[in-house]
Amino acid sequence: MYTINMALNVIISAIMVIQSVIALPFNTALFFIDNEASVFESGDEMYTVIWSTSLPGTGWVTYTYDGVEYVVKDLQNSAVRTEDTVHSVRVPKAHLDHNAYTYSSQQISTRRAYVAVKGRTVTSAPVEFKGYSGQEQINMLVLSDIHENPYNAQKAVNNFTVQPDLLVLNGDLVSYMTSVLKFKQILSYAHRFSGGTIPVIYTRGNHENRGTYGPEAVDIFKTSTRGQYFTCSYGPISLLCLDSGEDKDDSDWTYAGLVDSTSYIAEETEWMKTLSPDEDADYRVCIAHMPNVNNRYGFNWVPILTDLKTDLFIGGHKHRLNFEYRRLNVPFYQMLDGGKTNDDGFIATMLTFGGGEIRGIAYDDQRNLAGEHTYVIER
Ligand SMILES: [Fe+2]
Repeated sequence: MYTINMALNVIISAIMVIQSVIALPFNTALFFIDNEASVFESGDEMYTVIWSTSLPGTGWVTYTYDGVEYVVKDLQNSAVRTEDTVHSVRVPKAHLDHNAYTYSSQQISTRRAYVAVKGRTVTSAPVEFKGYSGQEQINMLVLSDIHENPYNAQKAVNNFTVQPDLLVLNGDLVSYMTSVLKFKQILSYAHRFSGGTIPVIYTRGNHENRGTYGPEAVDIFKTSTRGQYFTCSYGPISLLCLDSGEDKDDSDWTYAGLVDSTSYIAEETEWMKTLSPDEDADYRVCIAHMPNVNNRYGFNWVPILTDLKTDLFIGGHKHRLNFEYRRLNVPFYQMLDGGKTNDDGFIATMLTFGGGEIRGIAYDDQRNLAGEHTYVIER
């Protein structure tokens, strides 16, 4: 039996190798970076660099830090990942801040137990990455609910006279997550508004739970918690970034009985309870797509956010701007960040942190000032 299995394996491998070698010139011509890299916050002191290619292959990020050249590979349990067109590499923030990085992928046509057929390698131009550099004013661009129309979001963003230091993508960038192509749309928006040069915070929206690629997409970020929730900081700003789940109960017909967000949110809630307030931070911000944090699948996050001494909660989902959102009786500021406002409108928000204040300004895609507000942070 063993001999037969081995013989079959050799024959199948030989056929695959011959096929791959014949197809290699075509695959080489068709292999390119189809979404340039963005640098995502993924928990504590780490970033995850994510990009994609037109065909499956490997991925690695290269940079020099403290005189040492680093080549960090997209790995899974010791093996180089080769089956995917999305590539993600986790690197320490200290290594990437104020540094240049490149990213590369090699096309892999066939990978068997004892043989692999490899195609060409594509490499990005060097990208100069900015991190916190002690600047007195920090600009955070906040976009949510793009819902597959980045062009009006771009028009709204074009109104700002300052450049962002940090990009927040607060969920519902796409309306469903049925395949890797939908995830690639998220990558394209992240790169469009960050250029791969500033950190990106992505929080999952309710729509991005919908579809079989939703859970896979979370794995790509390689977060510290393994969920789409984590803490991070940017200079004096401490951030709690949450996955607020769906906008309907698990029992809703929409999900065909095939989701259990309740258990996922329960786990996230337990993790939140292990956190303590960042006493050194000048600003403590919580970001989540769904604004009704008093009832996430029966869990009330308000006491937790209160214990964490949250200054400002930023929600999306409602497709409107509200700098003084007062739905809940809570001891911290709340806002809704805008997003897609009707069939073809969009509101983008810039928050500027400095001098103990958070100043918000928002524009729509028609060049109108949509709103302004200043939050005073008292310590
Ligand atoms: Fe939403």
